[in-house]
Amino acid sequence: ETSDAKKMIEAHELLKKFYHHLLINTKEGQEALDYLHARGMTREMMEQFEIGYSPSSWDFAVKFLKGRGFSLELMEKAGLVIRKENGEYFDRFRNRIMFPIHNHHGETVAFSGRIVGEGQPKYLNSPETLIFHKGKILYHFHQARLHIRKHQQAVLFEGFADVISAVSAGVTNAVATMGTALTDEQARILRRNVESIVICYDGDAAGVEATVRAAELLSQAGCHVKIATIPDGFDPDEYIRKYGSERFQRNVIEASSSFMAFKMAYLRRGKNLQNESDQIRYIEEVLREISRLPNPIEWDYYLRQLANEFSLSLSALQQQLERYKKTQE
Ligand code: UTP
Ligand code: MN
Ligand code: MN
Ligand code: MN
Ligand code: MN
Repeated sequence: ETSDAKKMIEAHELLKKFYHHLLINTKEGQEALDYLHARGMTREMMEQFEIGYSPSSWDFAVKFLKGRGFSLELMEKAGLVIRKENGEYFDRFRNRIMFPIHNHHGETVAFSGRIVGEGQPKYLNSPETLIFHKGKILYHFHQARLHIRKHQQAVLFEGFADVISAVSAGVTNAVATMGTALTDEQARILRRNVESIVICYDGDAAGVEATVRAAELLSQAGCHVKIATIPDGFDPDEYIRKYGSERFQRNVIEASSSFMAFKMAYLRRGKNLQNESDQIRYIEEVLREISRLPNPIEWDYYLRQLANEFSLSLSALQQQLERYKKTQE
């Protein structure tokens, strides 16, 4: 079993290097290379993240791996090739920009392949295998770990492209989930390395929903969570390309707010706080959130903030808070 894992990793390492070569040095990779350049990706970033290109042939990887003595049966278990009913094999990844995925030791264990331009699926990922467990890996963690420790903070993104842009913008403590919601395991991995996490997801509705879920999971794991908001519609990569590195660091990462401030902004959406019933609903929703906080200093802090904003008495808010706390026990 361990020798199977070793072989699978070896195959990924070899393919990764060859895919990279195809992207950088060959005519076949030219269109993909042009696409990446047009997106603002520099050669240095492609080198650093070992980005590659899988050719459109049905059996490039099949021949490549077979020629190097790998069993195709094992390569299917590794997710690199797919077996047809007639017993022949073909490549899983064809005509895609290849992002190698490393485990936390830095070994290549999977790929995510992006379509060149528009189309579906946008990203094709390796399946779960002996060596790749999506829910237990964070993209770029093996490189980011030292920076995370040094800065005593990690920044969590939604996508590969966001991590790559962020790193090139100087945010070296960047990691991303693997195309699924943050898992418990990933939250615990982060917590083992650092207390403070900035969540920097896409600025669309899905990103906001995912932020709430990730923040709750991370808080439960004992992290101190901050939220970096990207203006509507953009994702971090697009923001960096449009506004540049400095503005990203200053106006997004350093300007990140507390989870509570983010929730307050979230609860305000769609309400008219000039309207009395909307205002009361808002205050009750915020109180309910405050009652879920573990820390009395935080209760006090946010209660005062609410009292000030709506000219309410602190004692009325405190009474209501006590009620909410009781209903939770
Ligand atoms: P996004 O749709 O936000 O992609 O999905 P992106 O990272 O901005 O990609 P670009 O900039 O268009 O290239 C966020 C993440 O969700 C996963 C990927 O991990 C992606 O980075 N995803 C998305 C998939 O796994 N499959 C898909 O088809 C789409
Ligand atoms: Mn650093
Ligand atoms: Mn998105
Ligand atoms: Mn995105
Ligand atoms: Mn994007």
